Amino acid sequence: MNVLTLVAHPQPGSFTYALARAFETGVKKAGHSITQVDLYEQKFSALVTGAEMASWKSGYVPEDVRSQQTMLKQANALALIYPVWWGMPPAILVGWLQRVLIQGFAFESGKQRAGLLDIPAQIIATIGSKDRPGERLFESYFSDLLGVFSYCGMHSHPPLACWGLNAATHQSVRNDYINAALTCGENILISNHSKV
Ligand SMILES: Cc1cc2nc3c(=O)[nH]c(=O)nc-3n(C[C@H](O)[C@H](O)[C@H](O)COP(=O)(O)O)c2cc1C
Repeated sequence: MNVLTLVAHPQPGSFTYALARAFETGVKKAGHSITQVDLYEQKFSALVTGAEMASWKSGYVPEDVRSQQTMLKQANALALIYPVWWGMPPAILVGWLQRVLIQGFAFESGKQRAGLLDIPAQIIATIGSKDRPGERLFESYFSDLLGVFSYCGMHSHPPLACWGLNAATHQSVRNDYINAALTCGENILISNHSKV
């Protein structure tokens, strides 16, 4: 089976990339293949243009979007790996969601269960702040994205939130997150893994 992974970070030396490599190792260890899309390297355009929006009615899909949809259609699972910036994924990843997960491909409108993409999804995110449960940061950082997955019919694994990452973060903490990302890769296609 194949896992489509979107990596959204402008610096290949970042911890986000290290997590992406660990995740890939886990997927392969479990006997699956991986298609890794590096959104910055591809210079994926995050902009929904007026012309593109108008074309949603006619069914025309620009080539850069169509190729992403083809990869997603052929995937048995989806993973998003990114840093949290102002509580959100980087704009390039938000743009991917807005341009690729369009009506007719990812959902149908006017239906209670609107989703068309019946696959598991995994978020792996790096975060500068430490988890402070009373502030409900987890909900605030991930609930919108989990809602997108759910609307499109995807079954989310619990997000791997890598808290407290800054220049002073101890190597042992980083190693724990790397191991956790590897485990996410191994488990992404295990259907009885706990869902949110
Ligand atoms: C533009 C920007 C916005 C950020 N916003 C947040 C934020 O809202 N919450 C937070 O905890 N950390 C925030 N951070 C810190 C990043 O989450 C953190 O530096 C990053 O996840 C570390 O992983 P990396 O080495 O892969 O970049 C922000 C960083 C940048 C550059």
